[in-house]
Amino acid sequence: MSAIVEFDSVGLRYGTGAEVLRDLDFRLAKGGFYFLTGPSGAGKTSLLQLLYLARRPTRGRIQLFGQDLTDAPRDFLPDFRRRIGVVFQDFRLIRHLSAFDNVALPLRIAGTSEAELESQPELLVADEPTGNVDAEMAIRLLHLFTALNRLGTTIVVATHDISLIARTPGAQLIRIEKGTVSDPTGLLKNPPAGGARVP
Ligand SMILES: Nc1ncnc2c1ncn2[C@@H]1O[C@H](COP(=O)(O)OP(=O)(O)O)[C@@H](O)[C@H]1O
Ligand SMILES: [Mg+2]
Repeated sequence: MSAIVEFDSVGLRYGTGAEVLRDLDFRLAKGGFYFLTGPSGAGKTSLLQLLYLARRPTRGRIQLFGQDLTDAPRDFLPDFRRRIGVVFQDFRLIRHLSAFDNVALPLRIAGTSEAELESQPELLVADEPTGNVDAEMAIRLLHLFTALNRLGTTIVVATHDISLIARTPGAQLIRIEKGTVSDPTGLLKNPPAGGARVP
């Protein structure tokens, strides 16, 4: 199994508060399509922020693209970020841009070259991407995600949108509750080779 992301006993606290994420132990398979679900306040946005390197964990280790980032110097991170596409929760899609250009916009701003964009982000992280868009744009976005996934991009989408999940057979659900991910079947600890690629 080739893991693109590996969390090892990861915890996160804000300031001196209690941990809002705790005991996160999971791997995401390269090429997988994952939906992150769970109630409001469970920690979805915080977990995604760790994934796209907007925050560092206060405990545990995170490996991304096969490298341990725990002790990586700060100036190491921009190169990693350029390999990650992000669609934010309050992201307003720009109507006249294609779904691809909307997703590419933050990468372009971060300095990803057109040549790098051609070869697709290796990891795409989306935080409730369809929360503020109409049904047509939601479908366009989902089509973009599945098309990127077929080309090999690993996709992680936090959502409450059951219809999105229903339209994506083969995707794997990660359920987060009260700051931790349960993995009763062990699939997240030892994902099947190739992950849950959308057919
Ligand atoms: N910047 C922050 N400072 C302090 N607490 C935060 C911050 N962001 C989120 N939290 C807290 O962390 C917990 C998880 O929040 P969040 O990751 O936004 O969950 P979700 O996206 O599942 O709704 C909540 O209790 C929330 O209040
Ligand atoms: Mg959130």
